[in-house]
Amino acid sequence: MEATSKIWMNGELIDWDDARVHVGVHGLHYGTGVFEGIRCYETPTGSAVFRLKEHMQRLHNSAKLIHLEIPYSVEELRQATHDLLAANGLPSCYIRPIAFSGYGRLGVSAKGNPVETVIMAWPWGTYLGDEALKNGIRAKISSWQRISANIVPHVAKASGIYLNSMLAVTEAQNAGYEEAILLTPEGTVADGSGENLFVVKNGEIYTPDLSTGILPGITRESIMRIAGELGYKVHQKILIRSDLYLADEVFMCGTAAEVTPLRSIDDHEIGVGPVTQAIQKAYLDTVKGQTDKYAEWRDVVPGLQRAS
Ligand SMILES: Cc1ncc(COP(=O)(O)O)c(C=O)c1O
Repeated sequence: MEATSKIWMNGELIDWDDARVHVGVHGLHYGTGVFEGIRCYETPTGSAVFRLKEHMQRLHNSAKLIHLEIPYSVEELRQATHDLLAANGLPSCYIRPIAFSGYGRLGVSAKGNPVETVIMAWPWGTYLGDEALKNGIRAKISSWQRISANIVPHVAKASGIYLNSMLAVTEAQNAGYEEAILLTPEGTVADGSGENLFVVKNGEIYTPDLSTGILPGITRESIMRIAGELGYKVHQKILIRSDLYLADEVFMCGTAAEVTPLRSIDDHEIGVGPVTQAIQKAYLDTVKGQTDKYAEWRDVVPGLQRAS
């Protein structure tokens, strides 16, 4: 992670090195935090954060699901992000808001503890590498199952839940693959360790529906709309692992991974195809403002240099 100048912490912009907490904070011990991953891109009308309001709304939803009260509204967090990016002068970056149960009681219940709210931003290129965006990655079905709705609310982007993702991606990487695909306890396809998943078969597009243990991805939702408007039929449905092996194309998507093709799954060759390429281009054009469409998704940051 590349250090930048300022971090927004509990209502103030403070120096990067001063953004500290005590080792006794509840969130460190029990994973009682919620976070977001957001990207800001340079566009012809200035630097713009992609779907900032929707990300901050999901942060609030995640917090509600784990009984955490964030003391700032969605609009206040949106404004704080603008202030942070302007202070750091970052024309394009990754943004990481996090809210977590702070220092107080260290029993399992977080009741009564203060809530710490932080926003960080730093330059971050492609998540899986430029090569991955172009030629795809090799993925492996994980031996770890995706957490299910009555274990912890999978709809929440909560810190503790990411132990599930971390174990899956570590297992995949130790076995020589780049990313993991998690199945639900019922054996249906869920998502990647940090991405949603799409399958292309006979020119139509399929993605697991929201009941299958997945995070309701903002990129996933954006892509369903973009793909629909490109003329593809998009279905949300239950998928099994054979659907992946027999697919014409498979791609993963997320704020960090953007649109990343899968070259193979469990050593079944798939290959990068034209539908994935068309959607990847349309998505990158959208976030970078290379199209007039979807302007409402690009939240231009005042006070940041206009892109030349
Ligand atoms: C498990 C998981 N699925 C999907 C996604 C994609 O979500 P989004 O498109 O909102 O970044 C992420 C990324 O945060 C994730 O961690």
